[in-house]
Amino acid sequence: MLARLLRLQGIDAVVLEQRSRDYCLARVRAGVLEHDVAQLMRDLRVGARMDRDGLVHEGIVLQVDGVPHRVDFAALTGKSVMVYGQQELTRDLIEELEADGEPPRFQAEGVVVHDVTTTTPRVTYRRGGAAQELRCAIVAGCDGFHGVCRDVIPAALRRTYETAYPYAWLGILAEAAPATGEVLYNSHERGFSLYSMRSHEVSRLYLQVPPDERIEDWPDDRVWDELDVRFARAGGGFRVGRGPTTEKGITPMRSFVSEPMQHGRLFLAGDAAHIVPPTGAKGLNLALHDVGVLADALVAWYRTGDDAALRAYSETCLRKVWRAEHFSWWMTTMLHVPPGADAFDLKLQKAQLRYVVHSRAAAASLAENYVGYDA
Ligand code: DHB
Repeated sequence: MLARLLRLQGIDAVVLEQRSRDYCLARVRAGVLEHDVAQLMRDLRVGARMDRDGLVHEGIVLQVDGVPHRVDFAALTGKSVMVYGQQELTRDLIEELEADGEPPRFQAEGVVVHDVTTTTPRVTYRRGGAAQELRCAIVAGCDGFHGVCRDVIPAALRRTYETAYPYAWLGILAEAAPATGEVLYNSHERGFSLYSMRSHEVSRLYLQVPPDERIEDWPDDRVWDELDVRFARAGGGFRVGRGPTTEKGITPMRSFVSEPMQHGRLFLAGDAAHIVPPTGAKGLNLALHDVGVLADALVAWYRTGDDAALRAYSETCLRKVWRAEHFSWWMTTMLHVPPGADAFDLKLQKAQLRYVVHSRAAAASLAENYVGYDA
C-alpha cells in the first residue's frame, strides 16, 4: 500500500518481501476494512474488485446469553465497514505493482538494514542466491512482528509495552453460506465465538480456545459441534451452516507496542511496531493508517523540503495506535472467558455487555471505534 501511495505521487519505491508470491496470496488474515480504508483503496484506484466482491456491512451483531443485539453503525455513525479478506486486498495491490512494472521482490532473504542515521541508508539482501544492495533515502520497516527492522532501533532508545491473553482463537475458513448477514460476536459461558464471512458462499468462524491448544485435537466435526453449542439462540432457530473447511489454524493473542516508531531514516509501520489481539479486526487497518501518515509526510518533504510531518510520524501514528490498542483490548476482555475467572469479574463483564447492547451512547462508542476513529 505504501509503494502504491508513493508511486502515484512520483516517488520510487521498492518492496522487499521475504515470502513467495504464492504464500502472500494464500495467507488468510482478518477481513474487515474500516470505512476510510475502503475509501483509500478507491482513491488509489485499486478498489474495483473490492467494490464488486466485498460486502458492505452497516452493523454487527453482539450475542449475549443466546440473545442477538444489533449495533447499527449506519444510524450511530453514518458509516459502514467493508468485509473483504486481507489477502484479497494484498492481491489487488501486488497485481497493481506488477502492472506498474516494478513488482515486489519476493523471496528476498537475509535482509539487513544499514546506516539509517545517515542520509544514505542501505538495505542488503540475497535473492536467487545473489547478494543485492539497495541504496535509498528512506527505509520503511513494514516487516511484521518477527521482522528485522524493529531491532535496528537501539534497545536503549526503545520502550515496549505488552500484555498476553490467556486464550487463543481457533479459526476456520469454510465453503458454507454464512448463517448470519452481519459479523456476529458471541459471548458464551464456554468461551467467545465469532461468525464472520468472506462472501455469500464462504464463512470465517473462530472459537476461543486455551492458548496451548493443539490443532490436531480439533477435527472438523468437533469444531462444528462446538460452534453449534456456542451460537445456539435462546429461542432456538439458529443453525451454523456446515461445509468443507479450506483452512484451519490457531492464532495467539497479544497486545504489543514499541515506541518510538522512527529512528533516523527508518520508519516502522504495522505489526513491526504494534500488535493488537484480533477482536475488532484492527491490525490491518492500523498498518494502513501508518503508511498513509508516512506517505503524506514523505510527499510533503519531497515537495517542500519541510520534514516536520516526518519528524512527527511516530507521535501522529501512536495516537491512533493506542486508541486501537485500547479498543481491541476492551472488545477482547469484554467477550472472552478468562480461565479460572472470578465471579466478580464475570459479573462486571456481563454488566458491560448489557450496557453496550442497551445504551445508545455505549453502542455509539463501540461503533465509532469499529468503523475507524481518527484519534
Ligand atoms: C474477522 C476477524 C476479526 O478479528 C473480527 O473482529 C471480525 C472479523 C474476520 O476474519 O472476518
